Amino acid sequence: MFLTDLHDSLRDCQRCRLASGRTQVVFGTGNPEASIMFVGEAPGFHEDQQGIPFVGAAGNLLTELLESAGLGRDHVYIANVIKCRPPENRNPMPDEVETCKPFLLEQIQIINPQLVCSLGNFATQTLLGKKVGISKVHGQPLPLPGFLLFPLFHPAAALHQGTLLPTLREDFQKLKQLLDEMATTPRDTSIATQPAQMDLF
Ligand code: URA
Repeated sequence: MFLTDLHDSLRDCQRCRLASGRTQVVFGTGNPEASIMFVGEAPGFHEDQQGIPFVGAAGNLLTELLESAGLGRDHVYIANVIKCRPPENRNPMPDEVETCKPFLLEQIQIINPQLVCSLGNFATQTLLGKKVGISKVHGQPLPLPGFLLFPLFHPAAALHQGTLLPTLREDFQKLKQLLDEMATTPRDTSIATQPAQMDLF
């Protein structure tokens, strides 16, 4: 399946309660052939209005952080776990995550990135399938079947809690280093058969 087919199949999605409050489904943006993907939580007000992930204040910070790692928004692919805006930007409910997760996994399978950066607890826990705190795992690559997961604090969290911002900036420099290393090493397909480093948790 192409990414555009998956997007088209979701435009009128009615699978969960979020359908009634959204302006539009916010599917994803960027390069569909990117080797690096960023996954956030759910669209906010501006994302819901414009149909593009990370275009509000957190998005502006993400763009700046990407640039600090030598990346432009058009080099990467950006999506969310949840494709529709939760009312009043509340946290996604477990059944909403379960309903939307297969479409994120399909998106990842189609794009086939080498590296997936999860932004914040929701994306990290959804992709790991494990309730682990972002404070414990941020800034370290974790091999998952098919890709390397690189958890990062959510830019919105760093905007609310300024003390997280220096750590987030440092983690983007670690990401830059990792990308440099990956550029000179062929893709390790054996990662697909390695279990995640669960001993870290
Ligand atoms: N926060 C997210 O997690 N995703 C967005 O698209 C915007 C803000």
